[in-house]
Amino acid sequence: MLLELYAGIGGVAATGVDVVCAIDHDVYAHEVYTANFSHPALRLNLVSVKPARLAAFGADVWWLSPPCQPFTVRGQRRDVDDRRCESLLHLLTVIPEVRPPALIVENVPGFEGSRAHQRLRESLAGYHVQEVEWCPAQLGIPVQRRRFFLLASLEPFELAPIVRKPRQLSDYLDASGPPLPPALERFVDAMHIVDADDELAQACCFTGAYGRSPVYAGSYLRQNGAVRMFTPREIARLHGFSDDFVLHSDPRRATKQLGNGVSVDVARKLLESLGVL
Ligand SMILES: C[S@@+](CC[C@H](N)C(=O)[O-])C[C@H]1O[C@@H](n2cnc3c(N)ncnc32)[C@H](O)[C@@H]1O
Repeated sequence: MLLELYAGIGGVAATGVDVVCAIDHDVYAHEVYTANFSHPALRLNLVSVKPARLAAFGADVWWLSPPCQPFTVRGQRRDVDDRRCESLLHLLTVIPEVRPPALIVENVPGFEGSRAHQRLRESLAGYHVQEVEWCPAQLGIPVQRRRFFLLASLEPFELAPIVRKPRQLSDYLDASGPPLPPALERFVDAMHIVDADDELAQACCFTGAYGRSPVYAGSYLRQNGAVRMFTPREIARLHGFSDDFVLHSDPRRATKQLGNGVSVDVARKLLESLGVL
């Protein structure tokens, strides 16, 4: 059983792992999470959660996807001085007290080497720890989403092998999609554009700023002679969600949530490594 902390819309639960409870403070993430999963999902700020409350779930694995902005250039890389890091710092005091049997922490590559990373390592005395940077493209999925993962377990474990099974972007696409927002049209020359018919095309990493920022927030698509945005459903497929996964009804909100989320396929490999899938 897994305890999903900073659960967002449930990219980890979407792997099919048994979840005892999900926790996130965001009302819109909670809406989507509960539309998709029937296990308990709490709207709770983790910044002051009591150790006994988390211990009471009796989970075998904790999954933590804390906010990444303190470790990104766009977020000014303020690391532990960023208020968005407060709840993680609190949980790093809870972990040695509760000692969950295993845990996985996900963040952007910029987390590695940060002061928060150092404190995380300090909180894991007695655990077997492995760190990886994995990306769905390594599995043959045509999207970049490189993320740092720390796996820790009280028992020794081995990382699941990564097997590349190449897939084509066209398999993830709808027949049409939304045009570029007018504010982005003049930046078309600067955008990363992939061609719907290109068998080797790989989309770059979609972030929460997709559709607002012309660069470094995801790729745009050339299809039937015009450049358009990827739809939230297409991004969801690239992130490993099946088509019956309910997305937020507001496409901008859905895109932002997916841009904050985890690759379901990569999460599955990590959970296999700890023997929970
Ligand atoms: C990187 S996203 C996690 C995404 C998730 N793994 C998914 O697949 O959708 C971080 C999440 O942490 C939540 N969050 C940030 N600070 C929090 C806090 N103090 N307490 C609870 N949730 C928090 C945000 O609402 C957001 O959904």
